Parts: sequence; C-alpha cells; structure tokens
Amino acid sequence: MFAKQLLSVVSIALSLGAAHGAVIEKRATCSNGKTVSSAACCAWFPVLEDIQENLFHGGQCGAEAHESLRLVFHDSIAISPALEAQGKFGGGGADGSIMVFDEIETNFHPNIGLDEIVKLQKPFVQKHGVTPGDFIAFAGAVALSNCPGAPQMNFFLGRAPPTKAAPDGLVPEPFHTVDQILARLNDAGEFDELETVWMLSAHSVAAANDVDPTHNGLPFDSTPGIFDSQFFVETQLVGTGFPGSAGNQGEVASPLAGEMRLQSDFLIARDSRTACEWQSFVNNQSKLTSDFQFIFLALTQLGQDPDIMTDCSDVIPISKPLKGASARFPAGKSKRDVQQACAETPFPSLATVPGPATSVARIPPPPGA
Ligand code: HEM
Ligand SMILES: *[C@@H]1O[C@H](CO)[C@@H](O)[C@H](O)[C@H]1NC(C)=O
Repeated sequence: MFAKQLLSVVSIALSLGAAHGAVIEKRATCSNGKTVSSAACCAWFPVLEDIQENLFHGGQCGAEAHESLRLVFHDSIAISPALEAQGKFGGGGADGSIMVFDEIETNFHPNIGLDEIVKLQKPFVQKHGVTPGDFIAFAGAVALSNCPGAPQMNFFLGRAPPTKAAPDGLVPEPFHTVDQILARLNDAGEFDELETVWMLSAHSVAAANDVDPTHNGLPFDSTPGIFDSQFFVETQLVGTGFPGSAGNQGEVASPLAGEMRLQSDFLIARDSRTACEWQSFVNNQSKLTSDFQFIFLALTQLGQDPDIMTDCSDVIPISKPLKGASARFPAGKSKRDVQQACAETPFPSLATVPGPATSVARIPPPPGA
C-alpha cells in the first residue's frame, strides 16, 4: 500500500527530528516562544491549554481522555469505498461528521454513549473556531499524550467541515466476528489483520460504560490510566467472570473482578491470523508505541489528503515514560492461566503482582454524565 510507505517515511523523519532536533526545519516561533513547523500551528496552543484544563481536568488520562480517543475511531472509521463502488455515499472518514451530525450518528448502535463526549467537546470547537474534524483528531492525540507510556502522537491539520452524516453500519461492534471486523477495517482503510491488532492497543486505556447496562466504567485491563501492554496479557488469560457480568451482548467472561472483556478482543486475541501479533505486544513497549503512533495517524487521515495537511505534531505534549513498568500477571495469576493462541512463539515469562487477587477499580464517569 503506497500510503503506508509514505507514512513510514514521515514517521522516520519525525523520530529522527525528535532524536537530533535539527532534521525538521522549524519555520515559525509562536507567541509562547515555542517553535513549530508552520505558523498555522500556533493557534492550537491556546486550544491545548484550554482542553488540558477544562476537558481533561489538568491533563488526566481519565474518562474524558478515553472517550476522546474512542471518538477518533468512531468518526474516522465511518468510510467505505465498498459503498461508494455501489454508487452510495460511503461516509467522509475523519471529517468530524460524528459531531456535526451527532443527532444522527450518535444514535447508531455502536456509537452508544458518545453523545456525552461530543457534548463536552462542542463548546471548544465553537470557542476556538477550528473544524470539528481537526478538533477530534487533536483532542484524541492530546488525550493519549496524557497517558504515561503513550507514543509521541502526531497531529495533522486541514480537515474541511463534513457535508453529510456517515451511513450506519460502518463501526465495528463487540459482537461481530473476526471475519466481519477484518473485512470492515480492510474496506475502510485497506488495513490488514496486523494493523487491526495495532489499533486495538487503544483498549489499553479504556473502559466500557454501556456494554453492561448495570455497571459503568469497567476497564478493559487493570491499568486503564497507562498506555501499556497489560491489556494484551489480561485478554489472553482464562476468563472466570465476575458476579453480575454475564449475558451482555458482546461481553465474555473476564479473568479479573471488575474487568470488562469484549467478545471481539477475546476472539482477536485467539484467532490464528492475529494471535501472534497480539502476543508480540506483551512486554514490548517500543513496538506498542511505534505501531500505535503509525496507526493513529493513519486513522486520523482516513478520507483526507495527507499531502495538503499541515504537520502540527509539535503542539502535542510528550507523554510521561512508564516508571519501571513491565507487564505482569495480575495477583493470583500465572502462565498456567494463559490460553496460548500463538503457535509460533511461547508466551513471555512474566512476574506476578504480589499479594491476594484484587478487583479492578471502576473509572468514574465524567461529571454530569
Ligand atoms: C475494531 C474493533 C473495535 C470494537 C468492536 C470496539 C468496541 C468497543 C466497545 C464496545 C467499547 C465500550 C463502549 C462502552 O460501553 O462505553 C469500546 C471502548 C473503547 N474503544 Fe473500542 N472497539 C474497537 C476498536 C477501537 C479502536 C481502533 C480504538 C481507537 C483507536 C478504540 C478505542 C476505544 C476506547 C478508548 C474505548 C474506551 C472508552 C471509554 O473508556 O469511555 N476502539 N470499544
Ligand atoms: C520488540 O519488537 C521488535 C519489533 O518487532 C522486535 O524487533 C524486538 O525483538 C522485540 N523485543 C522484544 C524484547 O521482544
């Protein structure tokens, strides 16, 4: 895929720039003294300050950050060349249509709950006079940068306002089969099965509010405030379930009390096409960050022409590194609990968190939600 090669060149250039400080020519100094690659980027520093304080509560990797990241996916993935080939409107991808046509799109079944983050984000879009598509991508990048361990996030500017709501049926659901999910992502952006796994690293900083109608804020791993590989460890463990978690559509038994496990994550962790890639992230933070850095940029450019966008990645903060973190089996678990799915490579040896088994703490919802 041509676009993919282009993107790797961009990210190599970016990482060289970061390492040597001189490869990317800096062309503008903003009024706050920061240098950026284009003067157009300066306008985003006030947006950054505003959302860090007033949307992310002082730069937290909490519920609003998680929902802002989810919103990026649900806006951008709604694009379908297959529908276009049938003469239908296939959606505009990362165009902000989920915010402009929220009355339509947030009522689509897979978008349940996203009305809340759209409502929280809208005033910032109006106040700063930016396009909804750019804002959603920006907020997602800033959100993730608040999570320790996250990659250096890219932000490209230049999405025109959307003209139409995306059609229904384009966002994957947790009760879809692996075939359905792989086919959908392949249609949306020619993503392959490995890239599908890369994207799902987002579930390292995530919780479910609506899968189980009786519990909200149920994390997908025991460290939902950290972008780490714990999600890939815990999804591979035998599910035992916890009281009150049974029988919701798209949910299967999780290994830890208080944890949500999506059926789709369970299946992708065990499918022969994806299992080794899933396992490859366990304890490999540099692979996790570089693959997610790449795929996040690709998602935020779906339906857009990267050649006419402006690179404003300089505006995005750099996340805190993980402190002495390596993946571990949760308390009470060991290699015996792993449902080995990758046939080629044994599961990495990991230490176990000491002490008795504990529940995963619920994530409090945004105030007023
Ligand atoms: C490909 C298949 C995917 C499926 C089936 C899926 C499904 C889901 C579901 C059901 C939830 C819980 C929603 C709720 O009940 O509140 C969720 C949460 C989330 N998803 Fe996904 N997802 C997928 C891919 C992605 C991707 C690619 C991203 C981002 C790049 C993403 C980011 C998130 C985040 C950050 C949350 C947590 C939201 C919160 O904590 O409020 N997901 N996902
Ligand atoms: C991490 O992943 C990279 C890229 O696939 C690989 O070259 C490296 O050997 C991995 N490191 C470990 C410790 O597994």
